[in-house]
Amino acid sequence: MDRNIRTIDDVLKLLDGLFAPEADRWTVDAGNWWDGFYADRDRAVPFFVAKPDESLVSYLDRGLIAPGRALDLGCGPGRNALELASRGWTVDAVDLSPAAIAWAEERAREAGADITFHRGDAFDSAAVELSGPYDLIYDSGCFHHLPPHRRISYLALVDRLLAVGGHLALNCFAAGEMGSELSDADYYRQSALHGGLAYTAESLRWIFAALTEVELRRMHDEPPESPYFGEPFLWSALFARDVRTPSREEPEK
Ligand SMILES: C[S@@+](CC[C@H](N)C(=O)[O-])C[C@H]1O[C@@H](n2cnc3c(N)ncnc32)[C@H](O)[C@@H]1O
Repeated sequence: MDRNIRTIDDVLKLLDGLFAPEADRWTVDAGNWWDGFYADRDRAVPFFVAKPDESLVSYLDRGLIAPGRALDLGCGPGRNALELASRGWTVDAVDLSPAAIAWAEERAREAGADITFHRGDAFDSAAVELSGPYDLIYDSGCFHHLPPHRRISYLALVDRLLAVGGHLALNCFAAGEMGSELSDADYYRQSALHGGLAYTAESLRWIFAALTEVELRRMHDEPPESPYFGEPFLWSALFARDVRTPSREEPEK
């Protein structure tokens, strides 16, 4: 007889375990799933290109964010971490997948960029030691792969690591364009995340209500010859941690 639940963390882990190991990107073995995903670097995966997000470049060029300490959350092969480093940021980058980190390290070495890489689950502070405060938490494509209950861990990470006056920049699947539109409860009923969750602009505003919206728009569609990455099926959201905003207020739905 198992009696496993004593803390919120125990509940989160129990919910993690409801997703079948081979079925999706969020499992106890998710690092392995992503390692397989990155095994063939020649596959035509849009974000395998060595180009930064057009949204990131736009924030930088417009002075919406200014150099400081950045965390690239779910950095993959590191294309945005590299851009930030080249623009004078001090960059930490974390990813669950050793293969992604190895690729990002190679790219950083080739570019002569000084980036501190961390391997492991960004939301497990016992496994990955990230020390804030960061002026920017940058997430291109990680959030939408998390199961609903891990939003709690995501918000806790932002709360713990984002500097007052700092920014969270997020690119995630836009409902109607990409990602699964099941209700939160149905992911648990079906034990699958179906390749990632779609979000509406309203749902993002609700989830990140403790932050101040700076900009929320669709990512621009960048043609193949563009020096930037851009896919219109993604939201590009920039939120600020306002001095006046309490970090963990309970938003009304
Ligand atoms: C769609 S990929 C995007 C990669 C990269 N940000 C880019 O845009 O090129 C999502 C990444 O999030 C990482 N990831 C997912 N869950 C994570 C977690 N709990 N901690 C750290 N990284 C995670 C995956 O390993 C994967 O590399």
